[in-house]
Amino acid sequence: MIFKGSHILSVDQFTRADIEKVFTTADEMRPYAQRECITRVLNGAILGNLFFEPSTRTRISFGCAFNLLGGEVRETTEVKASSLAKGESLHDTARVLSGYSDIAVMRHPEPGSVAEYAVASRVPVINGGDGPNEHPSQALLDLYTVKLEMATRGQGIDGLRIALIGDLKNGRAVHSLCKLLGMYTKVHFKLVSPPQLAAPEEIIVALIAKGHRVEICHELEEGIHHVDILYVTRTQEERFENQEEADKYRGLFRVNQSIYTEHCEPNTVIMHPLPRDSRSAAKELDEDLNQNPNLAIFRQTDNGVLVRMALFALILDVADKVHDYVHPVTWYTAKREPVPNQ
Ligand code: NCD
Repeated sequence: MIFKGSHILSVDQFTRADIEKVFTTADEMRPYAQRECITRVLNGAILGNLFFEPSTRTRISFGCAFNLLGGEVRETTEVKASSLAKGESLHDTARVLSGYSDIAVMRHPEPGSVAEYAVASRVPVINGGDGPNEHPSQALLDLYTVKLEMATRGQGIDGLRIALIGDLKNGRAVHSLCKLLGMYTKVHFKLVSPPQLAAPEEIIVALIAKGHRVEICHELEEGIHHVDILYVTRTQEERFENQEEADKYRGLFRVNQSIYTEHCEPNTVIMHPLPRDSRSAAKELDEDLNQNPNLAIFRQTDNGVLVRMALFALILDVADKVHDYVHPVTWYTAKREPVPNQ
C-alpha cells in the first residue's frame, strides 16, 4: 500500500511487506520514545484525537507518539462534549475538523463509523477502534510485540502457536490480530472462549482457508497447553445488552501463576491488550503474574508508542526525515521498561 496520505481503517489494507515497513520504522523510533534524543520533524503539525468511547492507552499513546515527533494534539473525548450531541453528522464533523488538523485518530462505538468519517475527511484518519469491529493499530503493536518476544527465543511469526482467550466475539483487538496473523504461514490458533463468545465465523473460516490450524476450546486448561503466546482478553461488558448478561461470563477464565505453572510451557509469553479487569470477580489475568518475566503486557504498551509513531511518520511522509531534526535531551529521564534481549 501507499502509506502517504492514506486512511488506516482495517488490517485488511496491509500486505506482509507493509507490516514489515511499519515494524522497521517502529524500530527507528525507539531512541526518541526512550528519550535518548528528540526529533521535531512534525513541528507545526496538528493531530485531531477523537475518542467517543473510553480509552487510556490508545488515546494517550497516539497523542504522545505525535508529540514525540514534534506535533501538537487536540483532543475531543466525549460525544456529549462535541456537536455530535446536537445531532451533527459524522460527515459534517469530519469536514469541519479536517480543516483544523493534519491527521485524525478516531474511536467510536459503531462498527464502520470511522470509515464513514474518513469518507468526508480531507485528512488521513486512523481507526482507533470502531465498536466490536476492528482495532488495526492495536493489532500492529501486538504483532510487533509477538515478533520481538519470539526473536528472543530464536523464532519468528511463521509457525507461531497462539491461544486467544476470553471474549473473542466482541474483542476488536482479537479480530484485527487474527486477520494480521492470518497473513503469515502455518499459525496454530487455539481459540479459547465460552461457546457464546466464540470468534466470528468468517474470521475462523478465513484462517482455515489460508491453511492455518484452528482449534476451538471451551476449557482454559486445555487451551493453554503447548503454545508460544497466551493472548488474554477481558469480557467486553460494554457490548452486552445488559449487565446480567455480561455477569454470566465474569471470572470464567482466569489465568494466574499457578495455572500458568501447571499448564503452560515454561517460556510462554503472556499478552493482553489491556485494560485487564482487576476487580476480584473478574481477574482474567491475575496480578500474581506481575513478576513473571514472560509477562509482556507493559512491553506491549511501550511498543504501542513506537508503532503509532511509525504510522504517523509513514502517513505524513516523514519517515526518512525523522533523524534530520534531532536535538539532545536536556532533562532528567527515568529508566524505561526493559526491552527483552535480542
Ligand atoms: C482494547 C480495546 O479498546 O479494544 N483496549 C485497547 O485499546 N488497548 C481492549 C479492551 O478494551 O478490552
